[in-house]
Amino acid sequence: MNRARHFLAVASTSRARWLALLEQTRALARGEAHVPSLRGHNVVTLFLEPSTRTRASFELAARRLGADVVDLSPSSSSLVKGESLLDTARNLEAMGADAIVVRHRVSGTPTRLAPLLRASVVNAGDGTNEHPTQALLDCATILAHKERIEGLRIAIVGDVLHSRVARSDARAFAMLGAHVRLCGPPSLVPEALGALGAEVTHDLDCALEGADVVVALRLQHERQQSGLVTSLRDYRMGWGIDARRWRRTAPGAILMHPGPVHRGVEVDSDLADGPQSVILEQVRWGLFARMAVLADCLDGTPTEA
Ligand code: NCD
Repeated sequence: MNRARHFLAVASTSRARWLALLEQTRALARGEAHVPSLRGHNVVTLFLEPSTRTRASFELAARRLGADVVDLSPSSSSLVKGESLLDTARNLEAMGADAIVVRHRVSGTPTRLAPLLRASVVNAGDGTNEHPTQALLDCATILAHKERIEGLRIAIVGDVLHSRVARSDARAFAMLGAHVRLCGPPSLVPEALGALGAEVTHDLDCALEGADVVVALRLQHERQQSGLVTSLRDYRMGWGIDARRWRRTAPGAILMHPGPVHRGVEVDSDLADGPQSVILEQVRWGLFARMAVLADCLDGTPTEA
């Protein structure tokens, strides 16, 4: 029987669990929470797509909780010899892995893996589907500045179609009562994305009008078919966020970006480095959010090797 507790998607997380994780994230950051000990637990990070922030912060989070961490890079593992992900995961489990943090280019991979394992599966980004720990750290970042999410106007701008961050963010923000607008070229923001509980617009000025929070997204070239964007110059003219356009946002609006930032494409450098930018704060919150998630999944349940 599989009794492990997983963290797979905002879509499959209850509001109560989300709020508890958010509260724990904030308490850990304030230094007020009793830091749960994961001593004796083994956490494996299995990233089959590139990552800087997510991978490093999961590793730091696991260490901060006292767990042992193994990072399995695909180029040095038997995945390159054709071993399936499930076989790899089962072997890691046989060595005593209690949690497997997975990033994979195919949407749904962590959700398919989870019921087949005794270890907890934590989604660190699956294809274009979800990136739930990014949404958790984004909620924590917004709360640190705005003290609430309910009623805020939040614009998510850019390549929404290919962005797992946009899907997780939109779901989480809508679950907490924000008014979410998704904006970008029609080829990258189809109307159907309104199903995420958001308003869809292709006009950047409309999206930014009165926004309290703006989340800029990278153009995900690695997932795009050709022809979706005519040229970087056209894209920038239509949907690049610069100081002139920023003036439409609400007073005290904050600028977020999950990284990596393409300066001068989706957002200008002076904004990304300006007083409205909370981009590096997001990275800081990532550590506490991932500590909260690992502790929630693993607390007191080490498996027998
Ligand atoms: C994002 C990702 O990988 O989904 N990055 C991240 O985890 N901070 C966004 C991106 O790659 O553009």
